Amino acid sequence: MGGLTEVMDRVLAAQKLTIAACGTSWHSGLVGEYLFEQLAKMPVEVEYASEFRYRDPLIGKEDVLLAISQSGETADTLAAMREAREKGALILGVCNVVGSTIARETDAGVFTHAGPEIGVASTKAFTAQVVVLTMMALAVAQRKGTVSEERFRQIVEELWRLPEKIQSILDQNDHIKAISERFTYAPNFLYLGRSINFPVALEGALKLKEISYIHAEGYPAAEMKHGPIALIDQLMPVVVIAATDHTNEKMISNIEEVRARKGRVIAIASEGNEEVKRLAEFVIEIPETDDVLTPLLSVIPLQLMSYHI
Ligand code: F6R
Repeated sequence: MGGLTEVMDRVLAAQKLTIAACGTSWHSGLVGEYLFEQLAKMPVEVEYASEFRYRDPLIGKEDVLLAISQSGETADTLAAMREAREKGALILGVCNVVGSTIARETDAGVFTHAGPEIGVASTKAFTAQVVVLTMMALAVAQRKGTVSEERFRQIVEELWRLPEKIQSILDQNDHIKAISERFTYAPNFLYLGRSINFPVALEGALKLKEISYIHAEGYPAAEMKHGPIALIDQLMPVVVIAATDHTNEKMISNIEEVRARKGRVIAIASEGNEEVKRLAEFVIEIPETDDVLTPLLSVIPLQLMSYHI
């Protein structure tokens, strides 16, 4: 796929970026939306590939479609790409499998090189996709001048520190397992996140459904009061992702609302988030990082929890 260099001028001239994907790859696309909008100031739409293909979508020669796929063979994603190509859009890909159909049919893009998929639940593919999307957004942002050299360097240096930080979460495996064992009885779970961690809430819920066969829903935390709050009682585990600074106060009031209904809060909290740690019944700490990179850390305890449950 060769990276973005060859097509960068077309990407810079694009009116909008449409991301099309399915399942976990769609969730990484939602994280990508935040990254491209925040860093590269580019309008982004994230589409379920399966819906996009049947909608006669408004996409044209000035636009870019970015397909995200681990396998590179997902039929809906491929169909979305073909639809967009027919309408003249530039087709980019983020794909794991070299030589796959999606990889072959893109104009340019980046391989995630996450290694072969072993289990059905997509885990390393998600984190690798988000890293690649961060790097793509940064590359576009640098060319557009929408991030300063200093901010660019800050994020790149923080990316280099992530393996060590992820390791420190993996080192808490016994703690995460102990929490998980408390909740094997639960028939339903709610996952709440805000801003760039809202897609992580969706991903946490998907992983639990897929490998534990437990019903789970992911919600943007503020939407809780528009319906799902009716479900919360002492039997309902609520996983709250409290990882970004600018949404912290709001998350604290969401936790208070859940507690007022006797819901059982499991918080994924940044180290040093004392208020959240005080309020939640169970806490899994993740190291501090740049706000835009928090999904790469906050998703790890959720993947482990699904596995242990
Ligand atoms: C979830 C999972 C699926 C895939 C989806 C898209 O763990 O594996 O939701 O993410 O089927 O697959 P790819 O990325 O191969 O296009």
